Amino acid sequence: MSAGTATAVAHPNIALVKYWGKRDEDLVLPVTGSLSLTLDTGATRTTVDLDPAAAQDTVELDGATSTGVPHERVATFLDLVRERAGRTERARVTTVNTVPTGAGLASSASGFAALALAAAGAYGLELDERDLSRLARRGSGSASRSVFGGLAVWHAGHDDASSFAEPVATDLGLGMVVVVLTGEQKAVSSRVAMRRTVDTSPFYPAWARQNPQDLADALAAVRAGDLARLGEITENNALRMHATMLGAVPPVVYWSAGTLTVLHLVQALRRDGLEAWATMDAGPNVKVLCSLRHRAALAQALADQVDGARLLVAGAGPAARLETP
Ligand code: PMV
Repeated sequence: MSAGTATAVAHPNIALVKYWGKRDEDLVLPVTGSLSLTLDTGATRTTVDLDPAAAQDTVELDGATSTGVPHERVATFLDLVRERAGRTERARVTTVNTVPTGAGLASSASGFAALALAAAGAYGLELDERDLSRLARRGSGSASRSVFGGLAVWHAGHDDASSFAEPVATDLGLGMVVVVLTGEQKAVSSRVAMRRTVDTSPFYPAWARQNPQDLADALAAVRAGDLARLGEITENNALRMHATMLGAVPPVVYWSAGTLTVLHLVQALRRDGLEAWATMDAGPNVKVLCSLRHRAALAQALADQVDGARLLVAGAGPAARLETP
């Protein structure tokens, strides 16, 4: 029998080569592989507490009881864990996020990585890291990568067994400055935007063809220790992903005026010699990949030149971990 309770902590990750589009919605199999950096700023701490007397799972997020879709996603995920563990008890799930929820800062990545680890612990499922990554993937695709610290590649695979993330060694000294333009919930979830883009954007097939090349080139740049090449691919890849969304019907436009301001500023700072490259996810906020040695100068320039933005200054973060009681 398991202890019946477990607490896990996981960190957000930001993709340098994006995951955009599922080929199997139920198993969360992506169309293409992706590469990400787990950050050391912001974290999700989740406790799963089995409650044999309860008829339903209860979910509390940042002190408020979850209902509707957020509750359903967690309960469905726990069903998967229960099925694998051969258990039936319901659970109390308590989550505290220090990343703004729903603002394109990948709180679903840290959220489902922490939930997968805590639920596996509470229900007594013995999983190695690869199986944990596969399990986290079922909650949210990007969560497969937050199981690992630093750089992680998520192999697209072709079925449940072959689609998992694993760490990628690097001594590149990567940093990231997250420019939080808004911490508000986005209007269109990444799940909905992704599906709409796959279904309606004439640019999607071009993305699906190009992305494996971007991933191979990015991994080659990491192996060669070529930060400028990795950065160039990162910025290009994000713009290509957003181009597919602009072609969707109706279009998905996550950018705000501030997004463009930061994008142009980063390009100008680069012309001035800073090692800095922008990337954007399913929201208006901009994340700027940089070298650790230029991180302070980058943060200063962003603080001076972007009105009203909050900055999160990050480096490579650790793998998801269980907290010992
Ligand atoms: O795993 P999801 O459903 O949160 O989708 C993540 C999609 C992007 O953040 C836009 C890209 C990525 O690879 O993280």
